[in-house]
Amino acid sequence: MSNRPYIVGNWKMNGIRAMLAEARAIERGAGRYPEVQVGLAPPFTLVQAMAEQVGALETGGQDCHVAVKGAHTGDISAAMLADAGAHFVIVGHSERRRDHGETDGLVKAKAEAALAAGLGVIICVGETLEERDAGRAEAVVQGQVAGSLPDLADEGQAAKVAVAYEPVWAIGTGRVAAVDDVVAMHGAIGKTLAGALGEAGPSVRILYGGSVNADNARDLLAAEGVDGALVGGASLTAESFLAIVAAA
Ligand code: G3P
Repeated sequence: MSNRPYIVGNWKMNGIRAMLAEARAIERGAGRYPEVQVGLAPPFTLVQAMAEQVGALETGGQDCHVAVKGAHTGDISAAMLADAGAHFVIVGHSERRRDHGETDGLVKAKAEAALAAGLGVIICVGETLEERDAGRAEAVVQGQVAGSLPDLADEGQAAKVAVAYEPVWAIGTGRVAAVDDVVAMHGAIGKTLAGALGEAGPSVRILYGGSVNADNARDLLAAEGVDGALVGGASLTAESFLAIVAAA
């Protein structure tokens, strides 16, 4: 695993061209923290412009299709993202699992398509509140990791993979997971990765996501096994996102 903290903003379905000014402000501010790897995933419509105009940050997509090209109206392939200048893609976000019925098997295929296109990939996993209350959080998340992890062409590809633990109940709710629970879950994910990938397991970074903000970022990012953060709402302004980058 790289020791460089990895902080990624997921803009979700937010952002028109005027928002590129915010991205440029993030780029300028992030320049003060070269020890932090910073990425931003805007909507597809902004990927190329962001990659061209905000070159010091890594630009990412928020999803990709499993195929390289073809008759899939409305979809975007990983190869197209790479062609537009993207460095990585997020797959399996709980909002896509919920809104588009994405399964672990589909997420795995998307992750493999991303790696084949030369992109880094962030695979999202996380339990619902019902699953946590039923004491099944670890089993659910470990199952998602095992089912969504790509088959690697070589061990070196593990460094291009990150898993983002995003408890569904913490996303956009202002309710952040307790640091102890995050540490426990990241440990469980690490075990699953080691079981699946052997010596390459520790090369996969494990991020936390879910209501990360300027106030809680320091404690979360200092926690054992937390290699970075996947940030939604607080990544939409340079002020709040840079406070998280600074905390890393
Ligand atoms: O992918 C990021 C995410 O789902 C967390 O969103 O708004 O709770 O930071 P938010």
